Amino acid sequence: MIIRPNDKNIISKLKKFFFGIIDSYLSVSKLYIGGYLLNILGLQVIRSIFKNTLHKLKYYKTSIKKDDPILLKLEEEGIVLINNFMPVEEFNALKQILANVEKKKFFNFTQNHEKSNVSWTLGRIYKQYDETKKAYEILNKNFLNYLPYIETVLKQTISKNIKFNYQKLYLPKDKIDIKDSNAHLHTDKFFPCIKCFISIKDCLTVNDGPFFYMKKSHKLNFNKLKNEYINSIWYYKRKRNTNYDVDNPFEIKLDYINHLKIEPILCEENTLIITNNMGCHKRGRLSSGHSRKLIRISFYDQQLPFYKRLIGDYLTNRREKKVVKKLKANQIT
Ligand SMILES: [Fe+2]
Repeated sequence: MIIRPNDKNIISKLKKFFFGIIDSYLSVSKLYIGGYLLNILGLQVIRSIFKNTLHKLKYYKTSIKKDDPILLKLEEEGIVLINNFMPVEEFNALKQILANVEKKKFFNFTQNHEKSNVSWTLGRIYKQYDETKKAYEILNKNFLNYLPYIETVLKQTISKNIKFNYQKLYLPKDKIDIKDSNAHLHTDKFFPCIKCFISIKDCLTVNDGPFFYMKKSHKLNFNKLKNEYINSIWYYKRKRNTNYDVDNPFEIKLDYINHLKIEPILCEENTLIITNNMGCHKRGRLSSGHSRKLIRISFYDQQLPFYKRLIGDYLTNRREKKVVKKLKANQIT
């Protein structure tokens, strides 16, 4: 059979469509669903109460003591910082590997990411790839010490095959950091969900674009529910409006929680930040000429039901194997 260029186009469109359906099936509950009318009737409030009550009732046997200061802080404030996360020699070795790999242009580079003027360098730290293997081992060995905290908050056992992603953001000189939905205050989910960052570079002033977090905004209480209600309606109101601002679709109103303080999370290099992103947060704006370097770890795909997790893990592993194979082939030539 001869495949013409036109057919190829159709095949790639079909592939995209097919994988789009799989991706949406395999993604964790959307922030809002149901449209304007159902949310006027309180759908988001019902979803929040239902999901969070189920979570509260869930039993999980943990090895962490109830009065452990890290756990207490994470539960009370929604965010915790672990300074000097790994031994200095290991951190320096990690930094060196990342710098070398970045120099070799192994990571993906996007200039003017989401029309924000910020340049993003992104890349997975592969376990099976020689160039990043050592970095993976250092990260994994140190990170596993803190995994029980995350398992305790999420009330589930998490695969020890942690996925580490490198992220560097840089705002070129004479540019202004604009747009980008991540830079507007938002929540990721309406139930406990954890993301972690490991700082690879000091982030000591607001010019360096630190992560911003509204401490205690992760707690489900009457004010949080009222806030969920108005935001679900606002979201669909904006979606209906033709002037709907697509740059910050998830930006939230703070009407009932504005007594809480939004703080820049400043930290030195080699700090682990564990954050419950059911709370309000955003990425800080970078000042011109400044950059931010970190390792990002998300556990959202781990919160899927086990059968979806199995499919998701299988697809990710397959995809990764293909990428690594390609990388190794390029390395040889
Ligand atoms: Fe977010």
